[in-house]
Amino acid sequence: MSEVATVRRRAPAATSNAGQRRRWRTAALSAAVALLATACASDAPLDTLEPKGSAARTIQDLVAPVFAVAGVVFVLVMGAIVLLVIRFRAGRSDDPDELPPQTHGHLGVEIAWTVVPAALLAAIGLATIVTIFDLAAEPADALQVTVTGQQWWWSYEYDIDGDGEVDFITANEMVIPADTEVVLAIESRDVIHSFWIPPLNGKRDAVPGRSASLVMQADEPGTYRGQCTEFCGLSHGFMRMRVQALTQDDFDEWADGQQQDSVEATTDEQIAGRELFTQLCATCHLIGGVNNDTYDGADQVSGTAPNLTHLMSRTTFAGSTLDLYLDVDDRSYEEIIADGVVNRAELEAWIRDPSALKPMAPDPSRGNEFGRGMPDLGLTEDQIDDLVAYLMVLE
Ligand code: CUA
Repeated sequence: MSEVATVRRRAPAATSNAGQRRRWRTAALSAAVALLATACASDAPLDTLEPKGSAARTIQDLVAPVFAVAGVVFVLVMGAIVLLVIRFRAGRSDDPDELPPQTHGHLGVEIAWTVVPAALLAAIGLATIVTIFDLAAEPADALQVTVTGQQWWWSYEYDIDGDGEVDFITANEMVIPADTEVVLAIESRDVIHSFWIPPLNGKRDAVPGRSASLVMQADEPGTYRGQCTEFCGLSHGFMRMRVQALTQDDFDEWADGQQQDSVEATTDEQIAGRELFTQLCATCHLIGGVNNDTYDGADQVSGTAPNLTHLMSRTTFAGSTLDLYLDVDDRSYEEIIADGVVNRAELEAWIRDPSALKPMAPDPSRGNEFGRGMPDLGLTEDQIDDLVAYLMVLE
């Protein structure tokens, strides 16, 4: 009687063990699939593995073979481990104390596993050094752009004629001619930032007091997105940038336009908006032909806020996080600038309460001499309407 009871009790225990193992296996498999799935994205503008320019391709040409070799090594080593674990696991032999054949002191094997990894690492090291020199080579007579990181946006100073003088300054969106190498000088006005347009090149830190160069080239006209990749304070994640690559003709036209003074205000509303700008915004922002002679050198360096002379020639604002036009992500730069519909609601919302759309610290009371970011100016709805009417003139 007791025998039978024992057997009956054991049977369900065995089933539940198998069930538990199955559950563990399912959980482990799901975790592995979930991990693998995180690598999938159909629309990934910051993808580092799809080079769209010469520098990014040079990097890819190093990464791909190194990754392939690392993959083969991984498979061989893990395969060998799994094979050995199965082949020599305890209980395979009648004698539990029996050892497999020992290879200690096997000269051939020891030379092989010393020489092969050393040769692999030497080859990778050599290829890396060649790539570093390739990336550092600067073309002569290239277009020069000084890229300056600041909390939390980027400014671009262009020296179009190559005479060492800044010809104009813009913000957040860097416009370059396609299929042409441009030399960037990367600097910072406050803390360390990092300039990174993954489809076009690797990262380069923007360090205060230093200038680091980076060569950028885009094969085709198009929009290439980037992100500051060095933690730089509250709105680090909202410090984005775009590169707009244009055909040489479109670029020349754009560069000519950037060197003109701003478009005049004509309607009463626009004139009222320009008045508000000179009273409230002009201490930080500059508009060519309006306040560029207010203080020394002001027509060259914006100081603390983006130069707005040709604001509407950009597709985004506020550190390239907000869209200045509707459907920015579905259209080309040329289409948007030619007949885009201004995203007036967002522009108004930004002026109404900037900190609601992007975390900032505009109040200098916390020990900073200057605040960080755009302050809330407490404007009335009529004032916001006037100001936006004027900003929309600034093509
Ligand atoms: Cu600038 Cu992070």
